Amino acid sequence: MNVHATALAETHHLDEPTSAFARDVIDDLSRAPKRLSPKYFYDATGSELFEQITVLPEYYPTRTELSILRDHSRAIAGFIPEGAALVEFGAGATTKVRLLLGECRLGAYVPVDISGDFLSAQASALRADYPGLGVYPVTADFTAPFELPEAVRGMPKVGFFPGSTLGNFEPGEACTFLKGARTILGKNARMILGVDLEKDERTLYDAYNDTAGVTARFNLNVLHRINRELGGDFDVGAFIHRAIYNRDRHRIEMHLISKKALTCEVLGQKFSFRPGESIHTENSYKYSIERFALLARVSGWRLTETWTDRNGMFSVHALVASD
Ligand code: AVI
Repeated sequence: MNVHATALAETHHLDEPTSAFARDVIDDLSRAPKRLSPKYFYDATGSELFEQITVLPEYYPTRTELSILRDHSRAIAGFIPEGAALVEFGAGATTKVRLLLGECRLGAYVPVDISGDFLSAQASALRADYPGLGVYPVTADFTAPFELPEAVRGMPKVGFFPGSTLGNFEPGEACTFLKGARTILGKNARMILGVDLEKDERTLYDAYNDTAGVTARFNLNVLHRINRELGGDFDVGAFIHRAIYNRDRHRIEMHLISKKALTCEVLGQKFSFRPGESIHTENSYKYSIERFALLARVSGWRLTETWTDRNGMFSVHALVASD
């Protein structure tokens, strides 16, 4: 941790979340090459832009995963023991879980998300639609350890992590997350996980370079957010969105590229950019089923079943905690 960044955040009397944002931004822009964490994409504007991405014609992951959950809902629900607590990591809208609810007899649903307001709104809607279902939202950062509600203590536990968000973690972080999930869910836990698959480069490229420019706005929004929340003075128009597929590392990389030499300031700290210099903002790893099975194995899970769409674009996996 950059001591200077911490002191700056303190001097500007920022609240804790903003101060963590400030420390990360100053640390990450001080590196060579520069980077920013993808977790900062999701302010209100970024979340809205992401919702728009999910329905773009080029962005196949969301609709393909939904089709797998719909087409195989009975088999997937069959993997959930009767009376189990389904714990959704990073629960946003409840569209995906709803596809399973009609097919299984859950003991409880535990959506876990950092955004408390959104979570309680979703929980109320779900309670209204499924009056018999116990819904116990947990406001927490699901990448760190958290406690499950007392009410689900005696129930079998099944984790649910759709959306291929696992792909936004570095492989080491993905392993840490899966090990952590196993600890939180306990002995004999199960897990249902969505993972985007490797495929031809053109399809991948187009999914992150849509012609309507929504992904570009989503990427650039992080600079607007720095300007808004940290009093930055980024000339956002001087940056362009770039997404490329790095075949060797099996990942889409998103970058913001400076069109010219410029300097900007965040909390009094100056950052200089060369023409063409990049801020690396996101990786989206794409797995083969074999590489995902290996990741699961070294992270304390055994892959027991995989469902895919007809074109092998996306995958949904059933995992059982190994002893
Ligand atoms: C949230 N996550 C799985 C998305 C992805 O595809 O990696 C985020 C995203 N980035 C650009 N487009 C969508």
